[in-house]
Amino acid sequence: MSILEFKGVTKDYRLGETTVQALRGVDLSVGKGEFIAVLGASGSGKTTLLNLAGAIDDPTSGEVSMNGRNISGLTDNEKAEIRNSAIGYIFQTFNLVPVLTSLENVMLSLQIRGGRTADIRNEASRRLDEVGLADFMLHRPDKLSGGQRQRVAIARALVTRPTLILADEPTANLDHQTAQSIIDLMKELNEKEGVTFLFSTHDQRLINEVKRVVRIDDGKIVQ
Ligand SMILES: Nc1ncnc2c1ncn2[C@@H]1O[C@H](COP(=O)(O)OP(=O)(O)OP(=O)(O)O)[C@@H](O)[C@H]1O
Ligand SMILES: [Mg+2]
Repeated sequence: MSILEFKGVTKDYRLGETTVQALRGVDLSVGKGEFIAVLGASGSGKTTLLNLAGAIDDPTSGEVSMNGRNISGLTDNEKAEIRNSAIGYIFQTFNLVPVLTSLENVMLSLQIRGGRTADIRNEASRRLDEVGLADFMLHRPDKLSGGQRQRVAIARALVTRPTLILADEPTANLDHQTAQSIIDLMKELNEKEGVTFLFSTHDQRLINEVKRVVRIDDGKIVQ
């Protein structure tokens, strides 16, 4: 059964007089437990595709369904509920809250759901430790390197134990060793916990690990 399905999805962005057709009729089915890389040149539509998959944006036409449910027709609250309960999103630009520490940024995803603060803090520290940031929990994003910010973003996406992780270039800003540890962590979550991954990447080491590649060219899936 597919966890995520695109049917004839288009996405237009209007910029003044012109319209950019970022996606031009995408059909894609993502099965539970898959580990899929989306490849394509800059501007081909990878981020747009991931934003639609994550209910962050609505398609111009066509249908995006999650577990058989069309997400385009949902209210903003219903979409937020899906994002909080089932999806982990690692943004290309991190989107960390600048005034919060690493620990608080990661705790935030759990606080939305409620629960005891002590438990939330423990869980968030565990995930930060896992991505190698045990010594950087109390730093704010402006005191972290690009790779460290990326790792906070990854910990934040993992901490809610989502069933689907969408990641936009998850290893792009990382040094060799850190990138490898993030790849290992992604693989482990996929293989041991059955977490589904859909991610864009240019990283050959990550591409080598996938069973399925989706190639996108100028808003269309070509393979
Ligand atoms: N908010 C927006 N407003 C207008 N045009 C946009 C917007 N977001 C993306 N686009 C355009 O849509 C097309 C696809 O962009 P998208 O960001 O999905 O590409 P990408 O494959 O992620 O590129 P990159 O590898 O550089 O991240 C591009 O032509 C881009 O300029
Ligand atoms: Mg992009």
